[in-house]
Amino acid sequence: MSEIEAIYLKDYKKPAFSIESVNLEFDLYEEFAIVTNIMKMNKVDGNEKTLELHSTDLELVELYINDLKLKESRYIISKESLSVLNVPSEFTLKVVNKIYPQNNTELEGLYKSGSIFCTQNEPEGFRSITPYLDRPDVMSVFTTTVIADKESYPVLLSNGNKVDTKDRVDKRRSVTWHDPHPKPSYLFALVAGDLGSITDEFTTASGSNVELNIYCDKGNESKCYHAMKSLKEAMLWDEQKYGREYDLDIYNIVAVDSFNMGAMENKGLNIFNSAYVLADEDSASDANFMGIQSVIAHEYFHNWTGNRITCRDWFQLTLKEGLTVFRDQCFSADLNSAEVQRIDDVKSLRERQFVEDASPTAHPIQPKSYISMNNFYTSTVYEKGAEVIRMIHTLLGEENYRKATDLYFKSFDGQAVTTDDFLWAMQEASGIDLSAFKTWYHQSGTPKLKVEESFSDGVYKLTLTQVIPNAVDSTKQNPYYYPLKMGLLDESGEEILAQTLVVSKEREEFIFQNLKSKPILSINRAFSAPIIVEQKSAEYAFLMKYDSDSFVKYESAQNFAVETIESMMRGQEINSSFVEAYGHLLDLDIDLSYKALLLELPSVSTLMQRQDEVDFEPIYEAKEKLAKHLAVTFEDKVMKLYVDNHFPNVSAIDSLNMGKRSLKNRALKILAPLETPAIGKLTQAQYNESLSMSDRVVALDILENTFSDFALEALGDFYSKYKDQTLVMNKYFSILSASHREGVLKRVIELQNDEVYDEKVPNLVRSLIGVFARNYKYFHAKDASGYKFVADKIIEIDKINPQMASGLAGAFKIYSRINTLNKELMRVELQRILNTKELSKNSFEIISKILK
Ligand code: PHE
Ligand code: ZN
Repeated sequence: MSEIEAIYLKDYKKPAFSIESVNLEFDLYEEFAIVTNIMKMNKVDGNEKTLELHSTDLELVELYINDLKLKESRYIISKESLSVLNVPSEFTLKVVNKIYPQNNTELEGLYKSGSIFCTQNEPEGFRSITPYLDRPDVMSVFTTTVIADKESYPVLLSNGNKVDTKDRVDKRRSVTWHDPHPKPSYLFALVAGDLGSITDEFTTASGSNVELNIYCDKGNESKCYHAMKSLKEAMLWDEQKYGREYDLDIYNIVAVDSFNMGAMENKGLNIFNSAYVLADEDSASDANFMGIQSVIAHEYFHNWTGNRITCRDWFQLTLKEGLTVFRDQCFSADLNSAEVQRIDDVKSLRERQFVEDASPTAHPIQPKSYISMNNFYTSTVYEKGAEVIRMIHTLLGEENYRKATDLYFKSFDGQAVTTDDFLWAMQEASGIDLSAFKTWYHQSGTPKLKVEESFSDGVYKLTLTQVIPNAVDSTKQNPYYYPLKMGLLDESGEEILAQTLVVSKEREEFIFQNLKSKPILSINRAFSAPIIVEQKSAEYAFLMKYDSDSFVKYESAQNFAVETIESMMRGQEINSSFVEAYGHLLDLDIDLSYKALLLELPSVSTLMQRQDEVDFEPIYEAKEKLAKHLAVTFEDKVMKLYVDNHFPNVSAIDSLNMGKRSLKNRALKILAPLETPAIGKLTQAQYNESLSMSDRVVALDILENTFSDFALEALGDFYSKYKDQTLVMNKYFSILSASHREGVLKRVIELQNDEVYDEKVPNLVRSLIGVFARNYKYFHAKDASGYKFVADKIIEIDKINPQMASGLAGAFKIYSRINTLNKELMRVELQRILNTKELSKNSFEIISKILK
């Protein structure tokens, strides 16, 4: 594996050439495509004689400088580059080359999703389309002509505005697009297909009209309206919250079925995984509708945070991603329930990012090196990155934060910058010194905070000690600087004070005077810092009842449940005060979705993260026992919650109805462990009668896991109703692979032969194989069958789509912390993957880090 080399941030060098303009022509055919690329180039560094362009597996047709065809002695082609020797200081380079989009299963560069030609160029896909300075700090003005058969590809799209359409010979047509905004190659996009679409428009604050189009496979047009509505909401929000207007006459979104990620923010031509565009009330769950709203907004927000101001190099990825995730989180909070949004965001951070941060693949939000950049589109760069921006927002306050983002846009518009540039703007506009804050960008691992309290003579002392994990290479790391929101309550539950402390030292004390009695501490309110708080004997039941902070209320319920389950794992009886406190939650008259969250027991992943040596069986056992006990104790109350909120004939997605559904479905999940025929019938009735997909999948999942007698019929019904809708079939596969019933692995293996399943479509692979790899019960089976199966799949899929394979490999990240038996079983399989001939850089990087 010696040819695999890491790239380091410290080696960054400015580009030696600039590209003033680029003119692209794509001649698309059924077997191949011819790309003609004409670039006006200038030497930036006068000493540089050779122009080295990035180019993957180049099949060169012709090469010209200033219209002079170059002889073979003037250039060198390698696996990853095209070097042109002795170039003048100003010249036009013309490259003609041949590519094969139809054979491109990696889904990077130009490829086919079904019958649609589309592109994915971030981070380094463009170099497989045409030789280029494929790095984000080389920005240029693109003009693109797409030529294809008129009948098969009536829709031809690229970035910017449409400037020309021509009929050509042989029933072919060409359309030319011009994007006036200079951009890096990773934002280039092209689409050609026979697509359906819906159209709308948006008038910006300053009065320009923007044409909005969403394209999809014909027949799916009616499923695009929620996405369109979300787009307009996002455009308005960015004007109101950040003063940012859209800057082209047209905004196009295209939905494709084969896509490695969620979506891509290409300038004026977003390309989306169809899962984040298509939805209607029959086929999409409430979570799908929310997901679409947030991803549509996320990509739209990139127009300013990512496109107008982009990254200098890929180490700066969090500059655009952390900031844009923070922006989409705030957008969703403003449009929906803010308290639920915050808890959902924290939940997903802790389930994914905290796990990553405690694993051998942990990295700072600004990594120092990478082998394959594709591996760094992580929850650390995205979600922890968003928490870092949120902390800046908290430290600065809303008003200063807005001044600072205004300054950021003004200072760096049209440039490729670094996270330091962003921090400069934050600091400059607010006058707040953020130098101590920078550790968040350069260190990895989740910081812990040990909390100790004392009280005497009216003085309450809070002693905070930071426990900072070492970096992956065992080097010691420094203390962090962050805002810590907290409050103190008196014995009756009244709030005595609420404030934001700034934590900056390894150990420090905060003193609160003139208190009548020992106060009750409410700490890390709103999850103001992405840390783990360690506190002995917190007043969970009290905080669940009285705290004004919706996050701490939730957190206290979670922590109380964790404590209870852990004591059961140590052989103790069920803690009756927890059961009592849980009972009070059932009576609360609060937002229904929030209530549904409060009633959820901590996930297996949460419990596992707290174990020194992870083993799943004891966790399941204790959690299931507690769930059963709660169901038995509160059956009547929970049943009433169910009945009061069950409206099977309503599928509307307004927040009230979504709230009712989430609480009702929580109630059903609480009741399921009773395993009585009555609950089975109730679940079956919900499956049969409800108009909402959320209700149907919850019912199906419960039937599958708890009432196998009823499951077969419902599963058969679901399959026959939806087998033609791949997006819905993803739900079907997920339920079956996540199941705890007997024989799941065997079934997953068989499902691969299902006519709906296709190993080349990432969504399907994720919902069948990816979900199985997170099915703790069967993935970690003590006969290694789960590991063997997933390892086989990684090896196989690595040859089709390395990015998908290394994504699956993520399931092994728990390796370093799992119990010795499982660890040995895992090691054998990981080693087997590593020994595979021609393993991709992507998989090599992840697996070798895990094994180290
Ligand atoms: N930049 C995309 C986003 O965050 C994610 C993405 C990365 C998509 C790489 C495809 C490939 O919105
Ligand atoms: Zn993004």
